[in-house]
Amino acid sequence: MAVRQIREIGDNLLRKKSRPFETVDDKARQLLEDLYDTLKVTKDGVGLAAPQVGVLRRAIVVDLSMEEENPQGPFFLINPVIVKQSGSQVCREGCLSVPGKLGDVTRPEKVTVEALDKNGKKVKIKAEGLLAVVLSHEIDHLDGILFVDKATEIFDQDELQEEERWVIEYSIYGDSRVCTFNFGRDI
Ligand code: NI
Repeated sequence: MAVRQIREIGDNLLRKKSRPFETVDDKARQLLEDLYDTLKVTKDGVGLAAPQVGVLRRAIVVDLSMEEENPQGPFFLINPVIVKQSGSQVCREGCLSVPGKLGDVTRPEKVTVEALDKNGKKVKIKAEGLLAVVLSHEIDHLDGILFVDKATEIFDQDELQEEERWVIEYSIYGDSRVCTFNFGRDI
């Protein structure tokens, strides 16, 4: 088990583009394991990308297995690419690399992601809702993009403690799908 230190906003490495893997070798598998171990020791993280632990390679881990509604994962993905997307949804996101902040971000409602798994086998994931958000967020990390770049509004987490306040704020989004799950975590 190797828990790595998570890089935070202001660190230039988070802004760089990550390199793809040519083959899924032991080094790639070790990186995926380290990402998973690091994610698991966070309080409520649901995704982590390699640049967040200082490695500029295209690898992400997404784990929604603890979700009450529709648990999915963990997914260990090498060279993930969004090959199809549709619709839109607004979610309040957080990120382990941007502690204490949340932001409202518009993401596709549905995405199809192609990637390689731990064994180098091609996989296709058809995701919607929260899983689509998390995959989009993590793949953005591989291109040096953070949620704060896309957020229409950014909040201090401390100021958003009351769940009820969120519900009121969400009602303004009209016909967009709105995520009501509790954030304060990396997605
Ligand atoms: Ni993040």
